[in-house]
Amino acid sequence: MNWHLPFLLLATVTLPSVSSRFSPLSLEELSSDTGIQVFNKIVKSRPHENIVISPHGIASILGMLQLGADGRTKKQLTTMMRYGVNRVGKVLKKINKAIVSKKNKDIVTVANAAFVKNGFKMEVPFVMRNKNVFQCEVRNVNFEEPASACDSINLWVKNETRGMIDNLLSPDLIDGMLTRLVLVNAVYFKGLWKSRFQPENTKKRTFAAGDGRSYQVPMLAQLSVFRCGSVSTPNDLWYNVIELPYHGESISMLIALPTESSTPLSAIIPHISTRTIESWMRTMVPKRVQLILPKFTAVAQTDLKEPLKILGMTEMFDPSNANFTKITRSENLHVSHILQKAKIEVSEDGTKASAATTAILIARSSPPWFIVDKPFLFFIRHNPTGAVLFMGQINKP
Ligand SMILES: *[C@@H]1O[C@H](CO)[C@@H](O)[C@H](O)[C@H]1NC(C)=O
Ligand SMILES: *[C@@H]1O[C@H](CO)[C@@H](O)[C@H](O)[C@H]1NC(C)=O
Repeated sequence: MNWHLPFLLLATVTLPSVSSRFSPLSLEELSSDTGIQVFNKIVKSRPHENIVISPHGIASILGMLQLGADGRTKKQLTTMMRYGVNRVGKVLKKINKAIVSKKNKDIVTVANAAFVKNGFKMEVPFVMRNKNVFQCEVRNVNFEEPASACDSINLWVKNETRGMIDNLLSPDLIDGMLTRLVLVNAVYFKGLWKSRFQPENTKKRTFAAGDGRSYQVPMLAQLSVFRCGSVSTPNDLWYNVIELPYHGESISMLIALPTESSTPLSAIIPHISTRTIESWMRTMVPKRVQLILPKFTAVAQTDLKEPLKILGMTEMFDPSNANFTKITRSENLHVSHILQKAKIEVSEDGTKASAATTAILIARSSPPWFIVDKPFLFFIRHNPTGAVLFMGQINKP
């Protein structure tokens, strides 16, 4: 799509039964605020592009990394995510369980995997906790062949996202000598609208895009009752919000749209957090409205490293200070890349959205090479006595 979307979409999951136990901070808040802050940083550098991210995917990858981190690296991860040091696992496990629960009639699947270098031994508690909290499966791959290692990871991702996310990793992200571990989270969602749009009502209409130009795009239309409301930022910029529920009723899409066309999204985004969204839920009231919404597909690949660094998670990327001793004590690991690819498709029937998030862990340095490829000397020595039994020089083997 060559047009831009000057409105915000948020898919939320309401989990009344589990969240009450964790007040005052609800589960959704804990898991998604980091992702929302990352979004905030990303859009600053790409204000006119379509961006799609999965805050829950980011929280899951950071949660897995946190299980393997210690010392300051762990502290930075837990501080950022605002979990109590030992609560991360418990909280994410509860969220995952609730999201994928059979009670959700919409389809949500979450899958996690650790792709591990052949022969690389991880600490047992790390493997066990990842399995327990994230149902994380461990698979061995041969990183010495980056292309085929990428293929097997990408194939897993493509399957778990039902074809929506393709080519997550490229071979140049894998270091044949140093890559030890690739953690991957895949989220897939498919929801049918509770109130569907009739295809015959879909028409091309004008969309005033973020780049200042107007485009003719297919727009869905329906006259129905939706919960909506008007809210303002602390500095009095008003925007409207509307809730579009999916048929399973525990998941909705929320749309935030500035009231004045002179208000850019960038003026509203910094004000949004899980608490703000919670306040929308209390503000919105059912109203009969004629809703016009673009039918669209958007896909974005996002490098999460810089945004996470800006947010204070610096140490996990630092080869000399990263502390992942709970993954392995035999060598020093750090995160070389962390990225996410996400896609959303909105149509008359509903929404399909998927995201894959990955963190690549590499060892600090390669084992030093010793290549004898020029003239050399040799000695054959009896070590207990120091007697040199033979010696020589080789100029041409
Ligand atoms: C990692 O953190 C632990 C706990 O603070 C500390 O005992 C250990 O020495 C650290 N290891 C490295 C390699 O920094
Ligand atoms: C493909 O994905 C489905 C759905 O998550 C899963 O049940 C199945 O085991 C996966 N197949 C492979 C080969 O990984």
